[in-house]
Amino acid sequence: MKPAVRLVEVGPRDGLQNEKAIIATADKIELIDRLSATGLQSIEATSFVSPKWVPQLADAAEVFTGIARKPGVHYPVLVPNEQGYDRARAAGVEEIAVFTAASEAFNRKNINASIAESLARFAPVMQRAKADGVKVRGYVSTVLGCPYQGEVAVADVVRVARELHAMGCYEISLGDTIGVGTPGKARAMLKSVAAEVPMAALAVHFHDTYGQALANILACLEEGVAVVDSAVSGVGGCPYAKGASGNVASEDVVYMLHGLGIRTGIDLDRLADTGRWLSALLGRETGSKVAKALTPA
Ligand code: HMG
Ligand code: MG
Repeated sequence: MKPAVRLVEVGPRDGLQNEKAIIATADKIELIDRLSATGLQSIEATSFVSPKWVPQLADAAEVFTGIARKPGVHYPVLVPNEQGYDRARAAGVEEIAVFTAASEAFNRKNINASIAESLARFAPVMQRAKADGVKVRGYVSTVLGCPYQGEVAVADVVRVARELHAMGCYEISLGDTIGVGTPGKARAMLKSVAAEVPMAALAVHFHDTYGQALANILACLEEGVAVVDSAVSGVGGCPYAKGASGNVASEDVVYMLHGLGIRTGIDLDRLADTGRWLSALLGRETGSKVAKALTPA
């Protein structure tokens, strides 16, 4: 296992995008600013997607311009097309993430495009990002199963990850969107992708629907992955992935990593405080077991 792991905190984006009640812009900004003070190096701030598709993140520009950007912290945002790129750049964004899937059926529901169409749509975004010095992360969703198609062939995951990498994504996040994966499958999938894309350019993104996320992450750490996506308080889910529950909780990932002697640079107490603040704001119990255990009586 690598001695240090970088967490990509996706709570403000993957976490909040699925919330039904609209959250105040000021609260989204406060969430990001609190996260910035925990030692996290990467915080996915919001999405410049169509507000018709994800109304919760219609205030992306206000959120992004409202946060206090901390030097050394990266604040990527999701961008689905050139229109999103224009909006993101106008707000001062310096890092973006493009997203597609290994399953045709999911991609159609999520971004109304085939995999090939989505990659073609990213091409001009990638060119402009390169010219502008904007870093681009790439997501592959449904890497261990699809809510519409069921099984997803590992070869499809490998092909899409390879194409995103070849297009210029510096890092590819492999997403178990609906959290159906188990450690053996997660490990085999990662190994197959790492045969074509360098491990140093890979990240893993687990949802905890079946309670397998930490076990899956451990299996992937053993294979040498050093970047893990997670969401504070275990919030999250994709509105276009029926039945998907929250992301793995950042607090739980940090606790496990520190227990393994792996450095993260993150202050777990501060992170847990932020998680408690967020669950109070959302009016529900935290999805993090570690945060519960650390809560003062
Ligand atoms: P479409 O309807 O096919 O596209 O949507 P369109 O070009 O016809 O646009 C429809 C309307 O949206 C138009 O407005 C556009 O102007 C507008 P109208 O003419 O009707 O007034 N529009 C936009 N507005 C603002 N910003 C934009 C933008 N683009 C179009 N960027 C589209 C195609 C891709 C836009 C849409 O499907 C979309 O936005 N999808 C996003 C869905 C989404 O955000 N899903 C969740 C993120 S993915 C995820 O959670 C998985 C992940 O966490 C990893 C994992 O867990 O696996 C990453
Ligand atoms: Mg996700």
